[in-house]
Amino acid sequence: MEGEICLKISFYLLSSYISEFTINYSLAFVFLVADLSIQHANLELSENLGRHRTDGFKNANALVVRRGAPFKISVQLKGRPFNPRTDSLRIKVALGRLYVEMPVTFSTKHSSSHWNAYIDPNNLNFQKLSIFIYSPASVSVGCYKFQLSVSTQDGQKSTVVGDFIMLCNPWCSEDAVYIPFEDQREEYILSDSGLLFMGTPMNLVSRPWSFDLYEPGVLEACLDLLKVSPQHQKNKRKDYLNRGNPVYISRVVSAMINSEDDRGVLKGNWTDDFKQGVSPSKWTGSKDILRMWAQSGYSPVKYGQCWVFAAVMCTVMRVLGIPCRVVTNFNSAHDTNANLVVEEYYSETGQKLNRSQDSIWNFHLWVECWMTRRDLGPDMDGWQVLDPTPQERSGGVFCCGPAPVKGIRNKRTDLIFDIPFVYAAVNADVHTIILSSQDQVVGFSKDTEKVGSLICTKAIGYPRVQNITGDYKYIKSPTSTLSSRSSTISNDSTLRRATAPEGVLVSLTLNKSPAPGEPIAFLVKAENKQKIPKVVKVHMNAQAKEYNHSPSETFWEKHGVIQLAPMEVKVVQEHILPAQYEHVMENNLINLAVVLEDMATHKRVLASEEFNIASPELIIQVADEDSIVPNKQLTATVTFTNSFSRPVSGLLTVAGAGLIAGKKQFRIPSLRPGGKASQSINLTPSMAGVKMLQASISLSDTNTIRCFKMISVNSI
Ligand SMILES: *[C@@H]1O[C@H](CO)[C@@H](O)[C@H](O)[C@H]1NC(C)=O
Ligand SMILES: *[C@@H]1O[C@H](CO)[C@@H](O)[C@H](O)[C@H]1NC(C)=O
Ligand SMILES: *[C@@H]1O[C@H](CO)[C@@H](O)[C@H](O)[C@H]1NC(C)=O
Ligand SMILES: *[C@@H]1O[C@H](CO)[C@@H](O)[C@H](O)[C@H]1NC(C)=O
Repeated sequence: MEGEICLKISFYLLSSYISEFTINYSLAFVFLVADLSIQHANLELSENLGRHRTDGFKNANALVVRRGAPFKISVQLKGRPFNPRTDSLRIKVALGRLYVEMPVTFSTKHSSSHWNAYIDPNNLNFQKLSIFIYSPASVSVGCYKFQLSVSTQDGQKSTVVGDFIMLCNPWCSEDAVYIPFEDQREEYILSDSGLLFMGTPMNLVSRPWSFDLYEPGVLEACLDLLKVSPQHQKNKRKDYLNRGNPVYISRVVSAMINSEDDRGVLKGNWTDDFKQGVSPSKWTGSKDILRMWAQSGYSPVKYGQCWVFAAVMCTVMRVLGIPCRVVTNFNSAHDTNANLVVEEYYSETGQKLNRSQDSIWNFHLWVECWMTRRDLGPDMDGWQVLDPTPQERSGGVFCCGPAPVKGIRNKRTDLIFDIPFVYAAVNADVHTIILSSQDQVVGFSKDTEKVGSLICTKAIGYPRVQNITGDYKYIKSPTSTLSSRSSTISNDSTLRRATAPEGVLVSLTLNKSPAPGEPIAFLVKAENKQKIPKVVKVHMNAQAKEYNHSPSETFWEKHGVIQLAPMEVKVVQEHILPAQYEHVMENNLINLAVVLEDMATHKRVLASEEFNIASPELIIQVADEDSIVPNKQLTATVTFTNSFSRPVSGLLTVAGAGLIAGKKQFRIPSLRPGGKASQSINLTPSMAGVKMLQASISLSDTNTIRCFKMISVNSI
């Protein structure tokens, strides 16, 4: 008699993947039913996730493991115990149509360059087998299927199937993404929040960002991103084979974060009009963006600008197990003709003009990923620049990197990828040209230090800035000549720096970093370097600007004449009052310039400074900070002080991955100058660790005040 047995095994697997498997097979003789077969396989989630440092992903209900380290499954047998002399076990592991098959052995000795499976020698139970599956440290990242079969002497076969997600392993010294210290791995792999630096070096703005690695849907969206990529769509087999290499993965992700050439995650928009989407300044973290993208069937989310692109890329790389950090380059040059010079034009009266194709952004954000460069050699190992903001095509698509930071420092423009572009972004010279109303060059100076004046990232373990400028450039000793912000009047109007210290020098210094509600106070120093008296016209001009735009109209100016005796130095103190600048502060930055004109020669010199005004005070306080544990409610209080000289109102938003589900919003009614508003919020931490609580008040579409507080949730 012939019968058919239906073996049905259910697993808790990723919801987006197959969650139930049905295996049909025929049995020749019914009495064999009593022979050895597999009843059930347990993926030992909590043990494996803990061992692989993937416990943050426990809500995904999937087996998430790192390569180069064994994970365990337990197999419950029925019929009779396993007999090592007559029975055998095999495992097949498949990624798409690629697969490997291996016998399950009793020896823990194995080659680290091949997949292996072995029975746990410390747990020899032949009713319930503990099997370790070991993957080499170079295998591809992705969602695998495995199949375990037991065969007996009679040819009888019983099979179970399951899934696991394989990530890179920065804890494993053989992995190309190995990073040696635990505090580095905690910051660059495990940490689900961080700071993005903006503003100007004088007044750094620390913008909190929630990377949201462990939020529902994020892991799935990061794996989907690899599948939606043009590389995968074009040739799945080739894509799967390449996915072991972090150079390849990071380049694919860099292109997929923007949506210029593919069904990427974010659409950029650098206008002031975001009505068809979300203003880039409104996002507080990566989760909303990645989930919107996945839920829409992979249509680009509107809108991103550089910090959004960089922060979302950081989330994806950390999830995939590649150490990653967000980096800010202050005064980032975009040198369109690759001559390492960016020109800036001013009028005779100090108004910055919009003339150049090249541009300097006050700040630009990209990411660095940590990996060995087996393609370039050990000199180029370590941090690699990847820039997901669509700027220039690289190999035909909008992506940038990985460009080794050591290669940028040593100007190795011969090496892949995109070193010349990043080198210019941190090293280009600025030529400042003053034009007369007839477009004649009436003044010229060269600044070799403005571009890339500060390159920074968040420090490991602390919510503060770390200066990494020295990684990108050899810093000249401070004994070098004149201050870079002053220049010399000369009778030479050709495009060369006037080196002789003759003529008139001008410099511009802010007394302190400007604070809201206070005047902007600055000093103009005029210095006659010659042994003849001079009469000099002084033009001062202030314009508001956005970080990536030419300045708009002049909102403040002042003109005068000063007499300078031979070799005399004169210092003039000036103020711009809050009522004079507050109405333009939507744009966040101010370009202030001073032009001196020598009345005898009509040659001009210019000094300029770009700065931002600090934000009004927004603070978060938490009671009983030392006794915070998961699943116990606590109360935070957010307090806003209006330090503007006019009444303001706005919308307060509070968010924090691992602290609040979603976001909470509250209206802040009109608050008089100097007034305070407080709001209490209840939080319930869902997991242990250092979590970030963010608060922001948006006063308009572009003017948002932010703060954050790091909250330590202790394990019980
Ligand atoms: C930017 O947004 C505006 C308004 O939402 C829209 O008109 C414009 O086409 C967008 N630009 C791009 C490049 O999507
Ligand atoms: C950053 O580091 C560089 C190189 O060490 C140094 O020259 C520069 O002054 C530092 N900048 C700041 C703002 O600390
Ligand atoms: C600049 O002026 C000095 C004297 O003031 C003169 O010797 C020199 O030749 C001039 N240079 C140029 C390029 O005109
Ligand atoms: C600068 O000028 C160009 C063309 O002259 C124009 O397209 C662009 O919008 C201007 N930008 C600003 C910020 O005024």
